[in-house]
Amino acid sequence: MSTDPSAKSTFPKSGRNLQGSPGPAVREILSNDERPVPPALAEFGNDYLGDDFSSGIHRDRYISPEFFRLEGERMWPRTWQMVCRAEEIPKVGDHVIFEIMDNSLIVVRAKPDQIKAFHNVCLHRGRILRETGGNVPNLRCKFHGFAWSLDGALSSIPCRWDFPNLKEEEMALPEARVGLWAGFVFINLDPNAMSLEEYLGEIPNHFRSWHFEDRYIAAHVGILVNANWKVAVEAGMEAMHVVATHRQALSYMADINAQYDAVKNRPHYSRLISPLGVPSPFVADSTSEQEIIDSMFPPQARGTGPGKGIELPADKTARQMAAEILRKQMSSTYGRDFSSVSDSEMLDLIIYSIFPNFYIQGGYFLNTTLFYRYRPWNSDPELCLWEIYVLLPTPKNSSTPDPAAFRLLKPGETLLDAHELGPAMSSFLNQDLGNMAYVQKGLRATRKPQSVLARYQESQIRHFHRTLDMYLSADTRK
Ligand code: FES
Ligand SMILES: [Fe+2]
Repeated sequence: MSTDPSAKSTFPKSGRNLQGSPGPAVREILSNDERPVPPALAEFGNDYLGDDFSSGIHRDRYISPEFFRLEGERMWPRTWQMVCRAEEIPKVGDHVIFEIMDNSLIVVRAKPDQIKAFHNVCLHRGRILRETGGNVPNLRCKFHGFAWSLDGALSSIPCRWDFPNLKEEEMALPEARVGLWAGFVFINLDPNAMSLEEYLGEIPNHFRSWHFEDRYIAAHVGILVNANWKVAVEAGMEAMHVVATHRQALSYMADINAQYDAVKNRPHYSRLISPLGVPSPFVADSTSEQEIIDSMFPPQARGTGPGKGIELPADKTARQMAAEILRKQMSSTYGRDFSSVSDSEMLDLIIYSIFPNFYIQGGYFLNTTLFYRYRPWNSDPELCLWEIYVLLPTPKNSSTPDPAAFRLLKPGETLLDAHELGPAMSSFLNQDLGNMAYVQKGLRATRKPQSVLARYQESQIRHFHRTLDMYLSADTRK
């Protein structure tokens, strides 16, 4: 890589990397970094390239009420769902309500070291027990006052004498399974599902050095999207759309040479790595190293972040410089030592897609690590809720800041109104949002019912539908 800031990027301008795209492969970019990357970023793989990928995805999967119903019957109740972060329910009695399809659950801290998930329905005549989260000493129904203790046991019944045949031991609240990983709380409605550990496979190992258990929610916004939940999920499964959707990022982001890890025997997750601080192969010929750093830390960011008009020293590349700025900035902000963290972990977009609806970034991604959750909304196949969280490291020697409250954007608002995400991120994500409802509209209007998918760059989408099929093909009706 060139160290002359006035020089053009010296990435190979022609030729093909292993996946067939122009520009350097991710592993080539990472191997040029000064600090070694953790093994997690160097391993994984993709075994979808040899498949017959000529048939794409049928539009019925996004619009058919029957397909939607099947997902509700066979997939959602059997997969692990991320419901909240543990720091959102720190005290005994703290709880959140989690709704998926027709299911409603109370996820509650039952003891200081125990989180439980109960079906949120009164066992008397079926009123929802809790309408919102909060803190309660017990779970009391607002209709007639039946109450359950936080361990799910029935604790009191007004007019007990009038229920002579009721047996308390048969009136415990039905529970869902709960799993914890890196500060995230998951539930699974299926008592026979594999454990969360098995489901997540090597992901906890990949994330170990990033200390997600020591992070907190700095922002949490949601927006209702007029699209099937899978349209929203798939919008983030490839970087091939950067050239048309996020043109402003071409000068500092690897897009068509991003890496996709998707392996058939790991059905519940896949990964995208898109390095930053390097230009897209589309503009590599015309982008200097100084222009890369200018686009990452633009003048309008001066005074508000690390971007104070950075002049690239002669002995540094833009990628090295950007990582160094972030290491210094984050070390001073959080009182933690980032000096040995690799450039890739500081900068790159490293997205793990955990089936079915949880996206989480690895590393530190410019100090704005994001995770997303997508859910169908109001039992409508063509409406979903997209939630976006910013997860930041907890400053050393200080207590965990309170997690940001959830803010659902109002009708008519866009992600440009999500100021808590910062101007660059809100406009970037708003560009993604701008496609979603139009994809849904197009799926209804199309005369060509099957999409076509790129062999490599859209392999995560094929992986995702393959896993979905695995669930849908297993009849779970008892
Ligand atoms: S429905 Fe809940 S107490 Fe009657
Ligand atoms: Fe995007």
